[in-house]
Amino acid sequence: MINVTKPFLPPKEEYQKYIDDIWQRNWLTNNGPLVNELELKLKKKLSLKHLLYVSNGTMALQLAIKVLDLQGEIITTPFSYVATTSSIVWESCTPVYVDIEQKTLNINAKLIEKSITKNTSAILATHVFGNPCDIDTIDAIAKKHNLKVIYDAAHCFGTTYKGQSVLNYGDISCISFHATKLFHTIEGGAVVTQSPEVLKRLAYLRNFGHNGPYKFNGIGINGKNSEFHAAMGLCNLNYIDGIISKRKTDSLIYDKWLSSLNCQRPEINKQCEYNYSYYPVIFENEQECLAVLNELHKHNIYARRYFFPSLSTFDYVPKNQCKVSEDIASRILCLPLYYDLSGAEIDMICRYIKRYFQYR
Ligand SMILES: Cc1ncc(COP(=O)(O)O)c(C=O)c1O
Repeated sequence: MINVTKPFLPPKEEYQKYIDDIWQRNWLTNNGPLVNELELKLKKKLSLKHLLYVSNGTMALQLAIKVLDLQGEIITTPFSYVATTSSIVWESCTPVYVDIEQKTLNINAKLIEKSITKNTSAILATHVFGNPCDIDTIDAIAKKHNLKVIYDAAHCFGTTYKGQSVLNYGDISCISFHATKLFHTIEGGAVVTQSPEVLKRLAYLRNFGHNGPYKFNGIGINGKNSEFHAAMGLCNLNYIDGIISKRKTDSLIYDKWLSSLNCQRPEINKQCEYNYSYYPVIFENEQECLAVLNELHKHNIYARRYFFPSLSTFDYVPKNQCKVSEDIASRILCLPLYYDLSGAEIDMICRYIKRYFQYR
């Protein structure tokens, strides 16, 4: 069976070494030494000023909304994972969708201003599949209208924009370290900010508001992560450059095979160094997309409709039709892409796809 993704696992002895140390210390969670080490190493690796390791990417988004004290309407993208929208609603704000660009699949920054009202407090945009949004336009609009900017950078480990980590943009960037991501800590995520003040408040929010054992600095939540999760991150960090370059090689094999088909691929931001986090393919219509999905299923290959459905179609958000997002969501597939995937397996996947197009 070939799944759309398969988590990278480091050599077991390397993880075991960390586990032995945890056993010896008997310090399992609550800002332990491995969590601290992971935070320091991530900041160094990605050249970030401030980063807090949290329990998952969704928690990162919710903490970001909370710490910026956002209220009312948040302008966001309909083409993302459900967590981008559910975090907004969970934090009692209203998502206002602005449709996406056909070419990049990111929020169409040129349409944002039309949707700003007196109730708008922020823009929450996703760098879809690790491909940076139109950051300059979004930042200019945010400055003009005094709005906060949060980037859902769940897919962005290793992506740079204008020579630095894309996580350095916006008031806060949120990343996911879920097992399906190219860098993972089993479950996990992080909030990244340039502001020491925001960082300080995030640290309180992440730990129930604790300011010492018996004092509390406002409301907080349990957004912490454990030593076991941090240990997996520390192991995986040693392999990340190889993981990204293997994905690049694999993506180029896909490109070669599929370039003759009439399929669209997202246009990658020219000012970025890309991380090859996914291999999305956009078919001509939904019927074609489903036929390819089924054809692959027959051979135990599980591509994934991602993102599907468009978030603008959910029943718990205000009705707001986003034609481009709904159309793209209906006909996009992410093809298998992971460290262990062999070139021969990619050849096989592509042969099945090409065969479908030849003989349909
Ligand atoms: C775009 C996007 N945002 C947010 C999340 C949520 O991250 P997590 O699963 O770590 O909570 C994901 C995870 O799949 C995602 O793809």
